[in-house]
Amino acid sequence: MEPRDLSAHTVYRAGRGIEEVARELGLNPDDMVKLASNENMYGPSPKAVEAIRGAAERMHSYPKASHADLVDELAALWDVTPEQVWLSNGGDGALDCLARAMLDPGQDVLVPSPGFAYYAMSARYHHGEVNEYTLSKADDFAQTADTVLKDYDGERIVYLTSPHNPTGAEFTTDAVRTIAEETDEQTLVVVDEAYGEFSERPGKRSLLDDRDDVALLRTFSKAYGLAGVRLGYAVVPEDWADAYARINTPFSASELACRSGLAALDDDEHVERSVETAAWAREYISAELDAPTWDSAGNFILAEVGDASAVADAAQERGVIIRDCSSFGLPECIRITCGTREDTEHAVSVLNEVIEVVEA
Ligand SMILES: Cc1ncc(COP(=O)(O)O)c(C=O)c1O
Repeated sequence: MEPRDLSAHTVYRAGRGIEEVARELGLNPDDMVKLASNENMYGPSPKAVEAIRGAAERMHSYPKASHADLVDELAALWDVTPEQVWLSNGGDGALDCLARAMLDPGQDVLVPSPGFAYYAMSARYHHGEVNEYTLSKADDFAQTADTVLKDYDGERIVYLTSPHNPTGAEFTTDAVRTIAEETDEQTLVVVDEAYGEFSERPGKRSLLDDRDDVALLRTFSKAYGLAGVRLGYAVVPEDWADAYARINTPFSASELACRSGLAALDDDEHVERSVETAAWAREYISAELDAPTWDSAGNFILAEVGDASAVADAAQERGVIIRDCSSFGLPECIRITCGTREDTEHAVSVLNEVIEVVEA
């Protein structure tokens, strides 16, 4: 037998882990710096670590109370009803929930190029077809209403990323409003704010007050440092928020995830420190790296280095893992995650050596 026709499906290629690379290169993992997956430079919120330890004894139970408690807390934070918070297995899971709730087989979605690969993957899993809008490098990857609307052709879901991965560019709230206004009544505009905490601009929450066609996505993977537990959520308009109960997998956010999420929400110090260090690292990298960079509102910076694959390979041999952006369609660019001061300074100095050697 065979699976259904998966020829249009692509494989998600995650950034490689320190252990994997260290083993391959015969290096000591403790001597390596990984700035490739936009993870938190300080690791998880310490309060979340404590909560997971405390929850270990309860792992035999399904996550009911913890799920409800976390939803209530997030609803209060966003000033929405609990039904409007769609908790999920990472931000990726929230994308799946939205696709499952919205897409009939054969309907189209519109995704950014370059952009986060999982929008298209999720849509295809849900029998959708994928079209793209282009962020132009010549235009510094500007994200305006026109960037999207020029390529819009009645798609059911339009995905916006703000701050955008991998460029760091943002949409203004007005631009998102214009996109929602100019697209069809039955088009959902998903604003992926996975990196929202790192931005200095206001989030897009206000749009939910007067629109039923904008949903937001957030994750605990970045500013809260919980990528390993897989916890994210969508905040959706009240009108159709009850769809979650019909499409959600049972217990999609685990007991450990919910408990750690609750604790992380209570750890302002960890988030503030992470956001401040990211702001410092963005400035440092753009000032000190011997390559052009783009302004970023996320916890990463895109840089143009010529041959990204050669630079990434050479940096890796010297113990620094960054992201070669060839898979984003940018073979001349690398993306560097903001690290601690020490890791960022070390990475920039290694990258500068490598850029010089590769250019020569
Ligand atoms: C733009 C964007 N959205 C969503 C996600 C999903 O993150 P997670 O599933 O870890 O919450 C990522 C992960 O890197 C991302 O870069």
